Amino acid sequence: MHKVKDKHFKTLIPAADIQRKVVEIAELLNTDYAGKNPLLIGVLNGSFIFLSDLFKCMKIDCEVTFMRVSSYESLRSTGKVTQIIGLKEDISDRHVLIVEDIVDTGQTLTNVKEQLVKLKPASLKVVTLLNKPDAMLTPLQLDYVGFKIKNDFVVGYGLDYDGLGRNLTDICVLAD
Ligand code: IMP
Ligand code: MG
Repeated sequence: MHKVKDKHFKTLIPAADIQRKVVEIAELLNTDYAGKNPLLIGVLNGSFIFLSDLFKCMKIDCEVTFMRVSSYESLRSTGKVTQIIGLKEDISDRHVLIVEDIVDTGQTLTNVKEQLVKLKPASLKVVTLLNKPDAMLTPLQLDYVGFKIKNDFVVGYGLDYDGLGRNLTDICVLAD
């Protein structure tokens, strides 16, 4: 049992299983992107541990960068607007892989994809360690998915509860 802030979490996916899955995903990418020098874009903060482990298993030429997304309610509409911050690289004609820790409702990623497509990458695909299929609000293509999990709150391996718990090596689920 792990205590994070005021709540208890129990292991859902042990560290060893995560590491095996990371190697599996990297092997797929090593094959699919050989000779393409892909640019991996990590979505901060949650993806930094996953991306770091994944990147170490990449055997092909590839580059890495990070971006942040900030969400706000648009003044003109009720829809959520997601703004991309910190992406300095020119991604036109690049093979781009967005790397996420988790896709929950999919709203963030849908917005991010729409904005990145406008920058005319040669290809744009998504790698996510976790996905909660039951929480997804819009159909969204996820190209490389580590684990599909139930619609429960998880922490660890980069994912946080109020900023805490990112350093847990297992992925843990709320126990109480
Ligand atoms: P979405 O737009 O609903 O897909 O939200 C995605 C973001 O919400 C992720 O990148 C995470 O930062 C956060 N998130 C979603 N589910 C969880 C969870 O179970 N634990 C921690 N963060 C989560
Ligand atoms: Mg995230």
